[in-house]
Amino acid sequence: MSISLEGKTILITGASSGIGAATARACAKRGMRCVITARRKEPLQALTNDLGADCTVVVGDVTEDGFNQHLLDVSGDVYAVFVNAGHGLEQTTLQFNLKQFQEVFRLNVFAAVELAAQAAKKMVENNSGHLLLCASCLSKFATPSHGAYCASKSALEAIAKTMRIELKPNNVFVSSVHPIGTKTEFFDESAKRSGNAQSDFASQTPSWLMQPPERVANAVVECLRKPKPEVWTSISMRLISTVFGAFPRASGPIINRFS
Ligand SMILES: NC(=O)c1ccc[n+]([C@@H]2O[C@H](COP(=O)([O-])OP(=O)(O)OC[C@H]3O[C@@H](n4cnc5c(N)ncnc54)[C@H](OP(=O)(O)O)[C@@H]3O)[C@@H](O)[C@H]2O)c1
Repeated sequence: MSISLEGKTILITGASSGIGAATARACAKRGMRCVITARRKEPLQALTNDLGADCTVVVGDVTEDGFNQHLLDVSGDVYAVFVNAGHGLEQTTLQFNLKQFQEVFRLNVFAAVELAAQAAKKMVENNSGHLLLCASCLSKFATPSHGAYCASKSALEAIAKTMRIELKPNNVFVSSVHPIGTKTEFFDESAKRSGNAQSDFASQTPSWLMQPPERVANAVVECLRKPKPEVWTSISMRLISTVFGAFPRASGPIINRFS
């Protein structure tokens, strides 16, 4: 049985580019009303041309106190929330900087969980809803220089698991989304944030592991139609991450070959 998305509202964070923007387009194609948010107004306004009249733009920073509640207040009756805004950090253990580490967690974990938890209250009242939290394949294993990012995505995945069990009796689905390398602004933004001229992550990632954001977007829509615990867009990476989890001694040398 698949759920009809026609006329339902989805709130998407981080919709000004990449996976968020592609997901908004894919959801609008399915007849969903989109509430899109990010800090940059211009790309959000440009996206509205693709989404049709039935969309709402809310500009702001999800890490600011009170913004997530404001977002939900202006969104109306929301069926689904794709908690997608996130950023990376390229920093080794020896370069550890507490402030930057905290910034990663502030966006990727604290703001994400706050929004999901606040949205869950209304969904429980409605006895219906779907929360999708954007983790990563790197929530399952870690790579050098990305400890803060991998840790943040593992934390988000763990919270998604808890929410899934807690909210199931109220007919609220919770899914974690696990993109592999996706061609978006993510890598340039990570490099800039880390003080690097270019992202070593992007250059080290083999091309067969890089996907267009539309692939993640379509998988998210499929999950909205037929809810499942985890959204993956690469069977091979899903298998690799399972093997890495089962054989931690072997995973290090293999990961190092790509680093
Ligand atoms: N690209 C990949 O290879 C990859 C792989 C696995 C997982 N992911 C995850 O996928 C999600 C989307 O990333 P992407 O690849 O689409 O990257 P992206 O193109 O850089 O998109 C990130 C989005 O987050 C928004 N954002 C950043 N900080 C924000 C803040 N403080 N408040 C509100 N919005 C904020 C950005 O918009 P503004 O700058 O306008 O605010 C942008 O719309 C992230 O959670 C990322 O960790 C990406």
